[in-house]
Amino acid sequence: MQCSWKAVLLLALASIAIQYTAIRTFTTKSFNMCPAPNPNNCSSGQDPTEAPDRLCEDGQPIATNTSRKTHILILATTRSGSSFVGQLFNQHSDVFYLFEPLYHVQYTLIPKSPQTKSTADRRVMLGASRDLLRSLYDCDLYFMENYIKPQPVNHTTDRLFRRGASKALCSVPVCDALGSSEILLEEGDCVKKCGSLNLTLAMESCKDHGHVAIKTVRVPEVNDLRALVEDPRLNLKVIQLVRDPRGILASRSETFRDTYRLWRIWRATGRRPYNLDSTQLTTVCEDFLNSVSTGFSRPSWLKGRYMLLRYEDLARNPMKKMEEIYDFVGIPVDSNVERWILNNTRGDQSSARHKYGTLRNSAAMAESWRLTLSYDIVEFTQNACQQVLSQLGYKTVGSSQDLRNLSYSLIEERSFMPFL
Ligand SMILES: *[C@@H]1O[C@H](CO)[C@@H](O)[C@H](O)[C@H]1NC(C)=O
Ligand SMILES: *[C@@H]1O[C@H](CO)[C@@H](O)[C@H](O)[C@H]1NC(C)=O
Ligand SMILES: *[C@@H]1O[C@H](CO)[C@@H](O)[C@H](O)[C@H]1NC(C)=O
Ligand SMILES: *[C@@H]1O[C@H](CO)[C@@H](O)[C@H](O)[C@H]1NC(C)=O
Ligand SMILES: *[C@@H]1O[C@H](CO)[C@@H](O)[C@H](O)[C@H]1NC(C)=O
Repeated sequence: MQCSWKAVLLLALASIAIQYTAIRTFTTKSFNMCPAPNPNNCSSGQDPTEAPDRLCEDGQPIATNTSRKTHILILATTRSGSSFVGQLFNQHSDVFYLFEPLYHVQYTLIPKSPQTKSTADRRVMLGASRDLLRSLYDCDLYFMENYIKPQPVNHTTDRLFRRGASKALCSVPVCDALGSSEILLEEGDCVKKCGSLNLTLAMESCKDHGHVAIKTVRVPEVNDLRALVEDPRLNLKVIQLVRDPRGILASRSETFRDTYRLWRIWRATGRRPYNLDSTQLTTVCEDFLNSVSTGFSRPSWLKGRYMLLRYEDLARNPMKKMEEIYDFVGIPVDSNVERWILNNTRGDQSSARHKYGTLRNSAAMAESWRLTLSYDIVEFTQNACQQVLSQLGYKTVGSSQDLRNLSYSLIEERSFMPFL
């Protein structure tokens, strides 16, 4: 019989979620936590670790089974400023942040062709990605072991991709190399000093945090996440990060020098190589266009769950944008995040050093492509990405003077309000 307990459970959860939503809509004021949680009143004899949240309305507790965890997904593409946005969550003391866990899925399933255009590969990859994301949001880190090579023994591994980019994986209790002192490790130091990663401890740390945030550049568009957005077990908030494709192209050419070699040859010689792979550019624009169009069309399944963020807006006004982001996800801002922004968005040239780093003069970096790309390449990009440029409010330039004239901004003032 296929109508398994899972289906029954899912139905039960769905109905709880619907009830919960109904309750929330009836009371415009938000619920407060019980001031002094009383186990007899609030969690009716269940295992404390599985206890439902304690919600109070007019002082009367209501037991629901809905987790109060928020699950955040930063939907991005390479060189669009996603490390920067990731840090806005990584630095929050109540957020468990993972940097690109889907790397392992891609590496295991389609190691030879990460840029694959085969729909079969893409479907397999997306299905596996959704399963992994669902498990990770549930703090089931063991699930990831299926994709880590070599397979972890005794739930321990030293092969987790960019472990050092996750603060929680580099601090107590997961890593006690420095005791509980406040000193922040450099990413490389974390890997050196913390030893192998004990996934059991990481899992406990995840459960101890109020929220889970994951950054990925491996999901093309928000439509690919619909099953997760609609999953009643999750409370998913998608932050779609976009950036001017001309800036992305310039940044990738600098960073991935081999892969984008032909673009650099074009820039250096002024001649477009006949074998230039223009899909390296057009894929970005198509994915943005599809995804952002979906967001703009406001389908009911995305209500309250989608926010569009332009990297340039964040770079120009990090504190304000950060507040908007936290307002959207519904989590109080933490002073660590504010401090991190203050420390990392000042114009300090010496700190613009790390390949994937976020330490840089953010506002100046966001438009620096205008001094590095040739006008030919810019024109080519504007033609290939015309639609998405106008959709996102990035102005095109008609001459090389306008391109280099930085006092003429190419970023239209737009406010993309979250769809609430
Ligand atoms: C539940 O809380 C109410 C007041 O909030 C109190 O009067 C009552 O005794 C509590 N019930 C139990 C079983 O503790
Ligand atoms: C894994 O744990 C078992 C039992 O505790 C132990 O015998 C074994 O040596 C461990 N393996 C490794 C590679 O640490
Ligand atoms: C990982 O941490 C758990 C929980 O503290 C512990 O029981 C386990 O022995 C650790 N595993 C290894 C391989 O050290
Ligand atoms: C920010 O800088 C101040 C001093 O300039 C330092 O005390 C603090 O630890 C830094 N905070 C972060 C999060 O880096
Ligand atoms: C640069 O742009 C500004 C603002 O649009 C304009 O006033 C100025 O004339 C431009 N300078 C040049 C050299 O084109």
